[in-house]
Amino acid sequence: MSNVLYISSEAYPLIKTGGLGDVAGSLPAALSKESQNVRLLLPAYPEVLKKIKKSKIRRKTSYYNLPVNIIETKLPGRNVTVWLVDCPFAFNRPGGPYADEHGDEWHDNALRFAIFCQVAVDLSLNKFKLHWKPDVVHCNDWQSGLVPALLSLYPQRPATIFTIHNLAYQGVFDQQTFSDLKLPEELWHMNGLEFYGQLSFIKGGIVYADKITTVSPNYAREILEPEQGFSLDGLLKSRGNDFSGILNGIDNKFWNPGTDNYLEKKYSVHSLNKKLLNKTALQKELSLPIGKSIPMIGMISRLVEQKGLDIILQSLSKLLAMPVQYVLLGMGETHYEKLFTAWAKKHPDRLKVIINYDESLAHRIEAASDIYIMPSIFEPCGLNQLYSLRYGTLPIVTHVGGLADTVIDASKKNIDNGTANGFVFKELTAESLLSTIKRAMAVYQKPKIWRQLQINAMSSDFSWKTSAEHYVMLYQQALKEL
Ligand code: ADP
Ligand code: GLC
Repeated sequence: MSNVLYISSEAYPLIKTGGLGDVAGSLPAALSKESQNVRLLLPAYPEVLKKIKKSKIRRKTSYYNLPVNIIETKLPGRNVTVWLVDCPFAFNRPGGPYADEHGDEWHDNALRFAIFCQVAVDLSLNKFKLHWKPDVVHCNDWQSGLVPALLSLYPQRPATIFTIHNLAYQGVFDQQTFSDLKLPEELWHMNGLEFYGQLSFIKGGIVYADKITTVSPNYAREILEPEQGFSLDGLLKSRGNDFSGILNGIDNKFWNPGTDNYLEKKYSVHSLNKKLLNKTALQKELSLPIGKSIPMIGMISRLVEQKGLDIILQSLSKLLAMPVQYVLLGMGETHYEKLFTAWAKKHPDRLKVIINYDESLAHRIEAASDIYIMPSIFEPCGLNQLYSLRYGTLPIVTHVGGLADTVIDASKKNIDNGTANGFVFKELTAESLLSTIKRAMAVYQKPKIWRQLQINAMSSDFSWKTSAEHYVMLYQQALKEL
């Protein structure tokens, strides 16, 4: 059994902007089931402070002359201890974890997450005497990237793991920031935190962690090549076998159509007819024409370029000429929000666009839809295609990252051998997307085959257990090599 400090900038249900929130809200509990003693470290955003029940201040301290409290609480609904970094100057403000209400990144993100990292380092070195010391420190994404770098300066340190959830977000700031943050000079060099003259938080993880992972085996291969490597492919390659891909899981507690309280009607692989009642309920809720046989296409997404929104927009006139309903729930870049909203105004019977962040509606869309589209340009793992599989909603995806690892195309061969669970296309164009949607529609007209694909999809096992076992093996290996 190891003590594991799991560090994340978001964790469901306390705070979530995307898949990292889901992972950090579930993996610690799955690791606990594998006999790991896990504590989660999270910034104390206002939303988090609002949601916690019992809590106590364990330490009062300060960084950069800013007062910081370490608050201890529990992850709601889980037996996982959470330590919150409560630095009001850094985290107690309206808006999101990384950006303000208008979507503009906080100007002082470097300072905010440097404070978060410094606390993590001091906790890891047991400086606060909290009667608990980690054997393994598991960091996630650039917000915790400085932790492995700073810990590398101590000979008596825990093992460090760094997980890349999305290489596109790197936490790069100017050189002056490095001085302002008073980071140790010995970390400033090409094989350290310096990245083309700038300070890179993510390099702190990639260079200094004992083991690096990303969230699917296929994305782990893709980011070793320049096309997807965001200028870090060479560095990742240099880490050799220390770098690997471990596929994310999904949380059966929150994403299970048989127990999902957000749904109009719960259902399982044995009662798939009830799924249709969720479609008619959503049609009613969103004032769409009601009909069980109208194919419904769903999508829940951050509205950013990564998610393939441009080819969707290019497809819309032809897509909306088909007898379908398309429901999109999302928030993100303003120009996408505006474009999709304008299309929805023109096609009220075919397209509903909800610009909002709404956890319960996300579940209802997954349950109501027949098809889910996720034509991502790149996708480290992707969770919505996994939720769709679980909900018998067949995903249409591009052949990238974790999507390629989890969705098996309904080719004749795969239908015949009983493995098909969705639709995959390789060319990232509007034409390919449209022809794949048409291909899916044709199968939809053959209810027996469609039902079989739904059964294949719902029977796939993407539980966290397997991934947690892989992480535990990695922890043990890192500890052995320390
Ligand atoms: P990413 O992390 O790149 O955003 P993932 O597919 O891994 O993509 O995870 C996205 C998660 O965020 C899913 O749980 C999805 O349901 C959720 N999500 C994204 N946008 C919204 C939204 N507007 N409302 C509710 N949930 C959302
Ligand atoms: C990132 C990726 C997404 C992944 C998620 C959780 O946000 O974009 O593909 O599923 O992290 O690992």
